[in-house]
Amino acid sequence: MRLFIPGPVNVEEDVLKVMSSPMISHRSKSASYLQQSISKNMQILWNTKNSILLSTSSGSGLMEAAVKSLILKKGVFFSLGAFGKRWYEMAIANGKKADIYEVEEGYSNKAEFIDSILKKGCYDFAAITHNETSTGVENPLIDISNVMKKYSEIIFAVDTVSSTGGVDIDVDSCKIDFCVTSTQKCLGLPPGLSICSLSDKAINRTKHVENRGYYLDLLTLYEYTINKDYQYPATPSLSHMYALDYKLNKIINIEKKENRFQRHKLLADITRDWARDRYKLLVKDNNYSDTVTAVVNSRETDLKILSSKLKDQGYVFSNGYGKLKDKTFRIAHMADTTIEELKAYLETIDKLI
Ligand SMILES: Cc1ncc(COP(=O)(O)O)c(C=O)c1O
Repeated sequence: MRLFIPGPVNVEEDVLKVMSSPMISHRSKSASYLQQSISKNMQILWNTKNSILLSTSSGSGLMEAAVKSLILKKGVFFSLGAFGKRWYEMAIANGKKADIYEVEEGYSNKAEFIDSILKKGCYDFAAITHNETSTGVENPLIDISNVMKKYSEIIFAVDTVSSTGGVDIDVDSCKIDFCVTSTQKCLGLPPGLSICSLSDKAINRTKHVENRGYYLDLLTLYEYTINKDYQYPATPSLSHMYALDYKLNKIINIEKKENRFQRHKLLADITRDWARDRYKLLVKDNNYSDTVTAVVNSRETDLKILSSKLKDQGYVFSNGYGKLKDKTFRIAHMADTTIEELKAYLETIDKLI
């Protein structure tokens, strides 16, 4: 089956093979080398000198770690859909004080609006979603980060779960204190591991926050990683780590970052042109995602029938997320999808609608 859903994605055969490498002791030198190598490559991918931490959990694990470990006074969440809202709910569920500001589906968060809220001076943590997988909107990260730079007391946290590996993210020039992603989207690996970068400012913040928990405590993760020679506090998924290390080497040294990002742009253009000719796009202010397109079902295609016919042809189709379930459908164009694979998928849909 070919998956055209926004994660999990198709995983290349060679990556799957590396995942089944024999086990080693997680307390061995080899485990340290493995984690150190991943850290170096993630620093290259994210353009950062910040510390790289891993978690044997999906991205939600490290998102929860951020709210537990980095909010001291009060957090603010600028949401553009389901995943921004979920991050805010995590903060509340962890007993943190937090506010949420949401935009209508299809819109991005506006830097000027964020500025007007941060001016109030009551927040010490601000989070955005870079790429909202439910609406296919990519937030204007550079504009927002330029606003964030004015507020040195605020920890700037960015969810790049559905953009890292498909879109260039410059953690250091955007001064992102906490950047998080998962393996099962644009990085092209199975689900089960998440990665974050942590600035010195963020590390310092964790030292002032009480009751950070244990498994998801960013300071514990940091101390094991940096002060204990790239170790992990518990038993990590070494299989994922092998695969991630191998895949990052492929992205950086074989495909090369620029080519990968360019391929994602091309895939997104092809998908949007196809969708515009047949349906409507959900995005309203031109902030299109390069990794997933949300299509408004303006022709009232029976999505259940379409999905089942596509399944017969060997494809996994994605309808909308949450309350957009029946109103939209999504086409993921991320990870290692080729132009030919995408075109074949779109041609198949054409024969069925
Ligand atoms: C933008 C975004 N943020 C967060 C998440 C949650 O990540 P995970 O499923 O890896 O926990 C997702 C998952 O789809 C997502 O798309």
